Amino acid sequence: MIELRNLVKKFDSFTAVDNLNLKVDSGEIFGFLGPNGAGKTTTVKMIAGIMFPTAGEILVDGIDISKSPYEAKKRIAYIPDEPFVYPNLTAREFLRFIGDIYEIDRKEQDSAIDEYLARFELLDRADKLLGSFSHGMKQKVMIAGVLMRRPKVILFDEPTVGLDPKSVKNFKDMIISQTQKGVSVFMCTHILEMAEKICDRVGIIYNGKLVSAGPVEEICRKRDSKSSLEDVFLELTK
Ligand SMILES: Nc1ncnc2c1ncn2[C@@H]1O[C@H](COP(=O)(O)OP(=O)(O)OP(=O)(O)O)[C@@H](O)[C@H]1O
Ligand SMILES: [Mg+2]
Repeated sequence: MIELRNLVKKFDSFTAVDNLNLKVDSGEIFGFLGPNGAGKTTTVKMIAGIMFPTAGEILVDGIDISKSPYEAKKRIAYIPDEPFVYPNLTAREFLRFIGDIYEIDRKEQDSAIDEYLARFELLDRADKLLGSFSHGMKQKVMIAGVLMRRPKVILFDEPTVGLDPKSVKNFKDMIISQTQKGVSVFMCTHILEMAEKICDRVGIIYNGKLVSAGPVEEICRKRDSKSSLEDVFLELTK
């Protein structure tokens, strides 16, 4: 569903993403791990089509994003690390706006909006301006907007930063139920425990290079039978 081929991003002479090759299958949760400044956000922004690669190719559902950006982006939903919402819209207005842009039937929109806001315990705030929402509340509205669109690929950059424990649990359950419908999830995270629990495979990026990729057990076993993901991460990124 996502394929990166020899992906490179340079900022002047600095190489932030260095010849990255990887694939994420349909229905798979891929965890993208790496220390601060490793190149995760840069990679995810290129997949989302909001930053242009210096070289290489990105295919989403077989579509080359540089050749058919509109078709590719229809399939992609991206949640950045800093939630972006319009402060002068209410939560319901914002979600309707998303629903209209993506041409979701109004009736379907209304039931989806109520369902997702209820699941994130925001139904009583549905008609309040987003400018008055906390960081975590904005993040939840953005996640609701993404799920409502039924994308084929969801890109998350640090999805649970700012979410309370119950919302994190809710988030995990929702992600797993999305993948059961064939959605692919590409998730940058620093939370190794979450990567271990919900990701089918992980990739570790360091200085722009993919230094390991595979199912967590497999990459741990490669080091030795007793290694945890934390041991492997610290070893590969020291
Ligand atoms: N617009 C930019 N101009 C110049 N350098 C940039 C730009 N964006 C990112 N970089 C550099 O590219 C490198 C990778 O940054 P990136 O944001 O992708 O890291 P990250 O893995 O997401 O880190 P974090 O875990 O802190 O979010 C960093 O050295 C960063 O300073
Ligand atoms: Mg980042």
